[in-house]
Amino acid sequence: MHVGTTVWPCSLVLVKFVERWHQSPSADNPYAALLNFNYKRAVELGTGCGVAAMGLYLLGLKDVVLTDIAPVMPALKHNLKRNKPVLGKMLKTAQLHWNNSDQINALKPPFDIVIAADVVYIEESVAPLLAAMEAMVSDSGFVLLGYQVRSAEAHALFWEQCYRIFGVEMVPHEHLHPEYAYQESDVYILRKKL
Ligand SMILES: C[S@@+](CC[C@H](N)C(=O)[O-])C[C@H]1O[C@@H](n2cnc3c(N)ncnc32)[C@H](O)[C@@H]1O
Repeated sequence: MHVGTTVWPCSLVLVKFVERWHQSPSADNPYAALLNFNYKRAVELGTGCGVAAMGLYLLGLKDVVLTDIAPVMPALKHNLKRNKPVLGKMLKTAQLHWNNSDQINALKPPFDIVIAADVVYIEESVAPLLAAMEAMVSDSGFVLLGYQVRSAEAHALFWEQCYRIFGVEMVPHEHLHPEYAYQESDVYILRKKL
């Protein structure tokens, strides 16, 4: 089975973090502006089964396109169809390999929000992934990254290159959803260094 046909835990940690904060009163909510999804355009990279984007759609992120490589698309579309009664519509999908600039440009970036969960696990894919994130996210937007170490080499390379392109904010674990806060899973907010 392909890795994209399994739900990976970071996508759940990510959605539950947003669920915890997206409607709490703005006075004591450090994420109030960030998680105001009104009029925001979003894309998910390496969506797999689509859980992160589906969850965020249900939390108000209405304009979102789910992307992955060709072998994952049939299972993704099947999953979206099965969830249509809950979602209320078929969410948008697009085939997108991180190193394919035609597929990136076809989606008409930039996006306000780029979602990515559990996508750092192959060393060779780190540079194309970061390049795709950089090409996709607007100067005022952010990447919402669910993260877990899957390979020591990919992990080291990702953060070395990431810090060159993005300002990095790690969500403190006490801000994650209490039932979805695992020691090994993190949520990061990446903003382009201008
Ligand atoms: C570990 S899975 C995570 C899936 C999903 N985000 C989740 O959290 O359940 C990694 C995903 O990244 C996708 N992926 C890997 N390399 C890719 C590439 N070069 N371009 C686009 N997607 C890629 C895989 O197909 C897979 O769906």
